[in-house]
Amino acid sequence: MAIKHFLQLSDFTLDEFNYVMERARIIKRKFKNYETYHPLVDRTLVMVFEKNSTRTRLSFEAGMQQLGGAAIYLNTRDSQLGRGEPVEDAGQVMSRMCDIIMIRTFGQEIIERFAANSRVPVINGLTNEHHPCQVFADIFTFIEHRGSIAGKTVAWIGDANNMLYSWLQAAQIFGFHLNVSTPAGYETDPARIDADQDHYTLFTNPGDACAGVSLVNTDVWTSMGYEAENQVRLKAFDGWIVDAEKMARAAPDALFMHCLPAHRGEEVSADVIDGPQSVVWDEAENRLHIQKALLEYLMVGRIS
Ligand code: CP
Ligand code: NVA
Repeated sequence: MAIKHFLQLSDFTLDEFNYVMERARIIKRKFKNYETYHPLVDRTLVMVFEKNSTRTRLSFEAGMQQLGGAAIYLNTRDSQLGRGEPVEDAGQVMSRMCDIIMIRTFGQEIIERFAANSRVPVINGLTNEHHPCQVFADIFTFIEHRGSIAGKTVAWIGDANNMLYSWLQAAQIFGFHLNVSTPAGYETDPARIDADQDHYTLFTNPGDACAGVSLVNTDVWTSMGYEAENQVRLKAFDGWIVDAEKMARAAPDALFMHCLPAHRGEEVSADVIDGPQSVVWDEAENRLHIQKALLEYLMVGRIS
């Protein structure tokens, strides 16, 4: 049987997302009730980090432990990956010693080459191109607060980064519309948009992109790996802050999301991220529940 990987959102069907979300609801309830649930006894997750992380490491490591399994952390500095061992060889070796692998790295092609050489499922914990676990947790969070996201309009304000490209895939899969506003020089790459034209609209004015939407979303202006561009980006993104003025243009019950870590006063004002429309802590917590359900699905398959 072919191994199922989760390298980008388009690897799953809507039916699979709905199944995993249903399991996440059950697993979340068990967690809140301190109910022991150990479907992954004797299973091992290897986590490879080539970039920094707080939430992704914590949610995968704690999640695996809560499901009765174990998680092993590797990074570029301490492992042979940092000394040039081919990613194909790493995929062969690691996948003979564990049951599932999560990788946070740079180019999407790295994780694809790794997965092509892996005997076990591989999960994308963030690449330059995608952040599927985060956007999956965000969709789950939206549904918890507002019900189905199908037919809604969501705004993306800021950089055309990994989060945006995963949101574009989500728009296609979950059937919502994405209003995208990025500054001049930082536009979306049409070749990388995985959504039909009726699922997104590009805006030059970020305020206009927020008009009437059910959710306003932003992220850092400088993603990991692009730090050298930080000063230039600070200037280019001037005006793209999500502040009270932009939130006022959204629907009155609009939510605000940010995958974190955030920079108050840059991409989001403190009154918005710390205000009543913000669900950023729920997004972070739901990484745990969604990924536990994802680990269960990829290792055990459908159980209900
Ligand atoms: N949102 C997110 O992936 O956070 P970390 O970089 O802390 O893992
Ligand atoms: N776009 C950000 C997300 C961090 C979780 C980055 O890639 O750094």
